[in-house]
Amino acid sequence: MALPGGFLDELRARTPLPALIGRRVRLARSGRQWKGCCPFHGEKTPSFYVYDDHFHCFGCGVHGDAISFLMQNQGLAFIEAVGQLAAEAGMEVPKPTPEASAEARARLDLTDVLAAAEAAFTRHLFRPEGARALAYLHGRRLDEATIRRFGLGFAPGRGELAAELAAAGIEPARLVEAGLLKPPEEGGRELFFERVMFPIRDRQGRVISFGGRTLGDGQPKYLNGPETAAFAKRRSLYGLDLARTAVRQGAALVVVEGYMDVIALHRGGFAGALAPLGTAVSTEQLDLLWQLSPAPVLCFDGDAAGGRAVARAAELALTQLGPERTLRIARLPAGEDPDTLIARAGPAGMQRVLEAAVPLSEALFDLLSEGQPRHTPEQRAALRARLEAAAARIPDRALAGEYRRSLLDRFFASGRTRRGQPAAAAPVACPPPEPAGARGERLRILTAILLRHPALLADVEEAYQTLDLPLSLSRIRDAVMHAADRHEALDSRLLIDHLTSTGSGEDAGLVLSASPLPLPACAGEAALPAEALAGWWHIFGLLNSGRLEAEFSAACSDWAAQPNEANERRVQALAEARRRLTETDFGLVELRAGA
Ligand code: UTP
Ligand code: MN
Repeated sequence: MALPGGFLDELRARTPLPALIGRRVRLARSGRQWKGCCPFHGEKTPSFYVYDDHFHCFGCGVHGDAISFLMQNQGLAFIEAVGQLAAEAGMEVPKPTPEASAEARARLDLTDVLAAAEAAFTRHLFRPEGARALAYLHGRRLDEATIRRFGLGFAPGRGELAAELAAAGIEPARLVEAGLLKPPEEGGRELFFERVMFPIRDRQGRVISFGGRTLGDGQPKYLNGPETAAFAKRRSLYGLDLARTAVRQGAALVVVEGYMDVIALHRGGFAGALAPLGTAVSTEQLDLLWQLSPAPVLCFDGDAAGGRAVARAAELALTQLGPERTLRIARLPAGEDPDTLIARAGPAGMQRVLEAAVPLSEALFDLLSEGQPRHTPEQRAALRARLEAAAARIPDRALAGEYRRSLLDRFFASGRTRRGQPAAAAPVACPPPEPAGARGERLRILTAILLRHPALLADVEEAYQTLDLPLSLSRIRDAVMHAADRHEALDSRLLIDHLTSTGSGEDAGLVLSASPLPLPACAGEAALPAEALAGWWHIFGLLNSGRLEAEFSAACSDWAAQPNEANERRVQALAEARRRLTETDFGLVELRAGA
């Protein structure tokens, strides 16, 4: 019984092995991997190593992946282990079918066919008919060791490969399955002819397909093999077999765009290089990358297309972002790719580019805003929507909040620096310099409103958390958040009791007192929730009008997506706060007068 191709690869990719094994064996970090005492033989000094995708014991030699670990450790059958892992990974185990069994057999056979083809292509490269191809590779600074290492070859004229492999007992039908011959209804001829051949390998180094480059200006420049039982583009990466070993030994994982870039980087000493296969980076490829490194470096061509490809990959990565799953972005000079850069500036030049790679969080604003016009209000609103949509793709709420804030901060900052062009999306004027002590007073009022109306926390929690508070107020905030976590229906009484019992009672008393200035009505016990909420946002806006704008636009999009009562209340309160901001002179007097 066999499962369809790809399912097990994806299951392994979605199963963090150190976490799985760590639940049963005590593991400690050891460089890039983990180690512990081998659960399969008695030992007192650890010789059992756990890597991202396999384990190995140097004591007893036991070796395997997530599935075989469960089989051996728990005595499970293969299909039981798969079932358990799939449940944990939230995947459904496909039903084993006769077709899938046939597919697994076919995949095995294909590996032999593809290996035979690789050998044939290599032979031709070093024969007279391959002279032009060999000269081309030498012209691109590849020496023979590199050519052999990557298994480069030459596809001769049409008809030759099929005839040669037929003589070795491989029928044309097999070549069709391997993606080397077109099916009979499409002419049944070789897909690749008179091209330089780049074998594409799986993680274990088995050939699964080929890319072929023209020698001249023929189109397409690169032809990639079709999807077959052995080859799924979105689950493969060129150079994965070599990069994986190098990264384990400490090399940086670098994603580039092309075959020649991968090879040039290896030649230059950057053995952790790999590339997607003429397609945009896929979710599955990101999973493969993150198995090897928590922060791979994307180093795409320094042209507009390269920029767009990085932006696309970054947006996709956002949907799975986490502390161990992020990206770094390296920018190449305009018009350059890693291959040309190394040719021009040497490995040292490349090293500088890689060292200057910035975290995704820093690169994202530029990636998303590059080439986007932002002169008119409509254009700026479109860009802002794009930034917000990007942040909203991050599943972790706290992290999403951080990204949204920092993207919008950059957005508003970039609006202000355009001299002579009012920041169209920020109609709220910048407050004049604050009167001395006003900031502290405002922070006190914000805290007071929440002590009187803890139910508002549901609306303002994120913004409240961003405030830079003096110590006493920040202690109160911690206690407030703590109390909110514990009590479903938190009212003012309960909250103040909680503060008293945690030692912040006195500070809370000062917050609620009428000195130095009496509190505005919105902080009073009698204020209606809507009044208190609008007041809170108004004062928040006095401290940071940019963030108020961001909150307002986020609230508008939330409401558009989910027009429920809570979202509507939020939009109304924020709109009211903005209206007040444009009408007041930003002074505290106003706040009290609003009372
Ligand atoms: P590039 O055109 O940037 O490749 O395409 P390159 O490495 O600089 O090519 P050389 O240096 O001229 O040999 C980058 C990648 O995009 C895919 C290939 O995977 C290529 O390596 N590609 C490009 C195609 O699939 N088809 C094409 O026609 C062109
Ligand atoms: Mn190139």
